Amino acid sequence: PLVSMRELLDHAAANNYGIPAFNVNNLEQVQAVMSAADEVGAPVILQASAGARKYAGESFIKHLIAAAAEAYPHIPLVMHQDHGTSPEICQGALGLGFGSVMMDGSLRADGKTPADFDYNVDVTRQVVAMAHKLGATVEGELGCLGSLETGEAGEEDGVGAVGKLSHDQMLTDPEEAAQFVKATQLDALAIAIGTSHGAYKFTRPPTGDVLAIARVKEIHSRIPNTHLVMHGSSSVPQELLALINQYGGKMKETYGVPVSEIQEAIKHGVRKINIDTDVRLAMTAAVRQFQAQNPDKFDMREWMKPAREAAKAICKQRYLEFGCEGQG
Ligand code: G3H
Ligand code: 13P
Ligand code: NA
Ligand code: ZN
Repeated sequence: PLVSMRELLDHAAANNYGIPAFNVNNLEQVQAVMSAADEVGAPVILQASAGARKYAGESFIKHLIAAAAEAYPHIPLVMHQDHGTSPEICQGALGLGFGSVMMDGSLRADGKTPADFDYNVDVTRQVVAMAHKLGATVEGELGCLGSLETGEAGEEDGVGAVGKLSHDQMLTDPEEAAQFVKATQLDALAIAIGTSHGAYKFTRPPTGDVLAIARVKEIHSRIPNTHLVMHGSSSVPQELLALINQYGGKMKETYGVPVSEIQEAIKHGVRKINIDTDVRLAMTAAVRQFQAQNPDKFDMREWMKPAREAAKAICKQRYLEFGCEGQG
C-alpha cells in the first residue's frame, strides 16, 4: 500500500539500513523497481522529477504509481516528488496525492541559481506547514550538489546550479544544518558532499577529497534525529559503460559513487539514496545490445523486456547492498 515516507525512514533508522529511491518516468521502470523489491522483500520509494512529470504527464505518473500499489498490495510504497523548486510546485504534488515532497530550496525557483540560507528556510517552512497538515513528509536540501573536482553542478536539467560553485557551497555545513532543521522542522535533509547528478561525477575513482563521506558523519553527529538523504548516488558501473560503448555508444571515462562509500554513509544516518543514472545506464546497455544483435526486430516490447530485466537487476542489487532485504 501507499505508506508514509516518514514511517519508512524511521524504520530504516531504527534498523540501520538505507532505502534506494529510484527515479521513474515510464511503465517499465516502475515494473522493474516493483518486481525487484518483491523478490527481496524491500520497501519502495518511487520518485518523479520535474522532468519525469513533464515527460509522462502528472496523471500518468500518479496512476503508474497507483498501479504499482495495486499490483503489489503487500509492498510498502511511497510516491515522492523529487526536486520541487517552489512551494507552489510542492503544493501541486500534494494535491495529486504524493505522500512525500522534496522542496529543494538550495536553489532559487529557476532551479539554477544558488539560494541563500534565509530563502531556503522560508520556502522549506512553507512546504512543511502544507505537507504536515496532510500527513505528508518533507525532504529539504542544504548545500549545492556539485563536483569538488571542477566546481560544476553536473548535467541534469533543472536540478543543477549553473556557473561555478565554491567549495563551501558544495559541502553542507553541520552547524548550518542544525539551524536549518530547527527552523524548518523538516523530516529528511539532503546534504551536499561532492556528488552530482548524472553519469559524469568523478574523473577518477573518488577519494575522500572529492567525496566527503567524513562530512556525513559530522552532520549526523550534530543532527542525529534527522534522516539524511544522498542525491547523485549512482555508482556508474564500469561494466555498463563498457557494454554501452561495445554496442555503438560513446560514453566518456567516468566514475560514480562506490557502493562501499554509500554503505559507510548508511552507518551514519543516510536513509534515502537517490538513484536515476544507474537505471538509465542499465536500460540503455540492454537496448543497445539487443538492437545490435537483432537488427531485424521492430516490436518495441522485444527490447523493452531485456531493458526492464536489466533495470530490475540493478535495483535488486542496490536493495540487497543497502540492507533492505526483508524490511518491506
Ligand atoms: O533529480 C535528478 C534526476 O536524475 C532527474 O533527472 O530531470 O532528467 O528527470 P531528469
Ligand atoms: P544520479 O544521477 O546519481 O542517479 O542521482 C539521481 C538523483 O539524485 C535524483 O534526485
Ligand atoms: Na528527492
Ligand atoms: Zn537529486
